[in-house]
Amino acid sequence: MIPLTETQSHWQAKVRQFCLEKVAPTVIERDKQQLFDHSLVKDVLALGLSRIYWPTTYGGFGDDFMSYAVALKELAKFDDGLAITVSVCVGLCCESIASFGTEQQKEKFLNPLIAGETIGAFALTEKEAGTDASGVQTTAVRDGEYYILNGEKVYITNAGEADVYIVFAMTDPEAGAKGISAFIVTKDMVGFTTGPRDSMMGLHTSTCGSLRFENVRVPVANLLGREGEGYKIAMRTLDSSRIGVAAQATGLAEAALAHSIAYTKERVQFGKPLSKFQNTQFQLAQMAIQVEAANLMLYNVAQDKSEGRPYTVSASMAKKFCSDVAMEVTTKAVQLFGGYGYCEDYPVARLMRNAKVTQIYEGTNEAQQMVIGGALLR
Ligand code: CAA
Repeated sequence: MIPLTETQSHWQAKVRQFCLEKVAPTVIERDKQQLFDHSLVKDVLALGLSRIYWPTTYGGFGDDFMSYAVALKELAKFDDGLAITVSVCVGLCCESIASFGTEQQKEKFLNPLIAGETIGAFALTEKEAGTDASGVQTTAVRDGEYYILNGEKVYITNAGEADVYIVFAMTDPEAGAKGISAFIVTKDMVGFTTGPRDSMMGLHTSTCGSLRFENVRVPVANLLGREGEGYKIAMRTLDSSRIGVAAQATGLAEAALAHSIAYTKERVQFGKPLSKFQNTQFQLAQMAIQVEAANLMLYNVAQDKSEGRPYTVSASMAKKFCSDVAMEVTTKAVQLFGGYGYCEDYPVARLMRNAKVTQIYEGTNEAQQMVIGGALLR
């Protein structure tokens, strides 16, 4: 295992302490009630998770990206719904503005996001534009000093709870992917509404839903990057946020392993704890190997980003690998728990449900293989 630096250990300990006090006691109930706890999210942000790796000039702490990955992983161990809420806000919304925004946009939108005063979202997906992200049909038509947005987005994490949305819309439908532009839309804009919360298999402590734009007048000053740069902005931003998914997935796997070790030491069958059976030991050993490998993949890509190396491919590799590990390890944990594993009063069923989506969102694992395969053959 790669040793953590003092700063990374500090973040791990800080998040763990917070989670033990404020997150763990309520997570089962919030998950059952499908509750997005706005005040808890604000507390997580107040802890500084949205500040970790941004420069101090924008109100960040200027720590390394690994510290953020470590903090997000720790949060996901206790409540992955909270982790995705933070990850979308930081990894998708803040990243887009930090990388492509003007100084005025950063001052107006990024600083409050980093300070944890506002929540962000990222609106790329549409009914007909999932993996095929270039198929966006939401339109943005220039009208003087405004763009008029019309269309609908689906499966948007933080929908209805976010203050700031990065919205991708077609400014030149003839140009395909090169006709997509990115806009900063705020929740108070006239004609912008959010639909009901989606009913999902997992991540019940987060929220996800649709967005509707009916003649929404977005100031030209809110165009992010240049016209036609939207697809590139989306892809570049997703490169970074996929590291966040890898961190969440590794956290889920680590938590499943820890719960399995504790449970199999206690659970007695045929006169001895399950941990004394060789089958259990082999299962735990296999899970531990997978968790170790996932951590190495995660740290490898986080290091690439921290040290300024290209990370498109290593992010896709880590996202796919760590999410597959999360699915396999959490499934093994449910099996080791037996009937109790299938029961929502124990944590492993929730971990398994939450692991599934890490193979799907922020680009399915098939899309990650398109990125990796494409790079190999270029
Ligand atoms: N960085 C910068 N530019 C990039 C890029 C990157 N990582 N990837 C592609 N591009 C550019 C290319 O350079 C190319 O530009 P040129 O034509 O000028 O050369 C252009 O984009 C097209 O590139 P490709 O043909 O290689 O890319 P593609 O269109 O074949 O990509 C795909 C296909 C990999 C499936 C991609 O569309 C993809 O990743 N789809 C998944 C979308 C996704 O992740 N959606 C998640 C939604 S957000 C979400 O889930 C958040 C949430 O709420 C939880």
